[in-house]
Amino acid sequence: MTAPRAFLFVPADSERKLAKGAETGADALILDLEDSVGADRKPIARDMAAAWLAARAGSAPQGWVRVNAFDTGLTMGDLAAVVRARPDGIVLPKCTGPADLRTLDAALSALEAREGLADRGIRVMPIATETPAALFTLGGYAGSPRLAAMTWGGEDLAAGVAAKANRRDDGSWDELYRLARSLTLAGAAAAGVPAIDTIYADFRNEAGFAAECADARRMGYAGRMAIHPAQVPVILSTFSPTAAERAWADAVVAGFAASPAAGVISIEGRMVDRPHLVQARRILGLG
Ligand code: COA
Ligand code: MG
Repeated sequence: MTAPRAFLFVPADSERKLAKGAETGADALILDLEDSVGADRKPIARDMAAAWLAARAGSAPQGWVRVNAFDTGLTMGDLAAVVRARPDGIVLPKCTGPADLRTLDAALSALEAREGLADRGIRVMPIATETPAALFTLGGYAGSPRLAAMTWGGEDLAAGVAAKANRRDDGSWDELYRLARSLTLAGAAAAGVPAIDTIYADFRNEAGFAAECADARRMGYAGRMAIHPAQVPVILSTFSPTAAERAWADAVVAGFAASPAAGVISIEGRMVDRPHLVQARRILGLG
């Protein structure tokens, strides 16, 4: 299964959005049981998420479920309701650190066994910066069971530090959120999984979104989460290699193949050494 670049959040209690989400071209839907679903709608959202997962065709996007956070008391019920419908993955909000993924792993293994599913077939993506304390754990995710990707969140983090806003007047992330974004990138790389950038709430601002996606891609992010269908094509195009990047990568791989003993070569008038070969192979999907 290829790693998703574009994840689209869909409130799991919305029939209309569940139907629409599958047509957006997103690699994965995140069926949300958490913040976009009101307290009285949680039970129906569980049922609708499970029904969508059970009914989806092979051509449908991957189906991930964002459960409620451990401190709500709802998480185990959410998992019990959806695991039987075989989600591709679970998104864990307000993850406080790698220990939470071990708790989640044990719960998922029990439910997989109950349903006769392969152990550890369901993967996990933590939202790893939603509490202030979680920022200090981001280097510890290597070896976490089921870890498929890491992402971050700036809304709950802002609430956690009593910030009035998480962006500056010019629209850019304030310092704490830049730090969270950078540490998530480093933490994901250290754990050997892709980093997925957070949502962009101002969904009518196409130019702002496109610019921030380009920034994330330059940094090393592999994809992004969307909240609106219009954001999906921007993510898919931004997080795919351009023709020029592919041509450069082809030239680098061919250059080193022609001089296997060389530590450094010259491509298009620039120095290229071993880290560039790693990058070129990644662009070409050569691992
Ligand atoms: N997934 C699937 N379909 C969506 C969608 C989504 N996330 N967001 C909007 N749509 C659909 C709408 O239902 C509408 O379809 P229709 O024309 O068939 O009725 C169409 O796309 C256009 O939507 P639009 O009118 O531009 O937006 P809206 O005002 O209806 O909705 C939001 C705006 C923010 C409420 C909505 O985009 C949304 O629910 N996003 C996800 C929120 C979420 O999950 N948050 C949790 C993570 S932070
Ligand atoms: Mg939240």
